[in-house]
Amino acid sequence: MKLIIAIIKPFKLDEVREALSSIGVAGMTVTEVKGFGRQKGQTEIYRGAEYSTNMVPKIKIEVACTSDLSPRVVEAIQQAANTGAIGDGKIFVLDLAEAVRIRTGETDETAL
Ligand SMILES: Nc1ncnc2c1ncn2[C@@H]1O[C@H](COP(=O)(O)OP(=O)(O)OP(=O)(O)O)[C@@H](O)[C@H]1O
Ligand SMILES: [Mg+2]
Repeated sequence: MKLIIAIIKPFKLDEVREALSSIGVAGMTVTEVKGFGRQKGQTEIYRGAEYSTNMVPKIKIEVACTSDLSPRVVEAIQQAANTGAIGDGKIFVLDLAEAVRIRTGETDETAL
């Protein structure tokens, strides 16, 4: 299993969620975060406001999925979240050791 963590522009969340649903992702967690990338010191526009990028609002998406599905998840996020402008974000893929579905006690892939 893989845990995919993506940092994206907030206004891209709906498109990314739809893209992930369409490839069969069962669940996801979304958090409002702030961060910066390589252009620290330069400005980035968010909702009309210029942030002098120490910290720009972003959305963090976490998706646990089977290793088989992982490349399609990464591709779907990369395509749906891409604007071509700076600050489009990053995708990180981690090995996921265990998963437990709390209600049923199912584990690992059957728990996802
Ligand atoms: N190396 C990193 N580690 C952790 N989080 C990161 C890292 N790089 C970027 N992020 C997160 O992703 C967000 C968007 O990064 P961003 O897309 O600006 O990266 P970048 O490398 O500057 O690419 P670009 O040149 O396209 O802007 C940051 O605000 C931060 O939350
Ligand atoms: Mg950047």
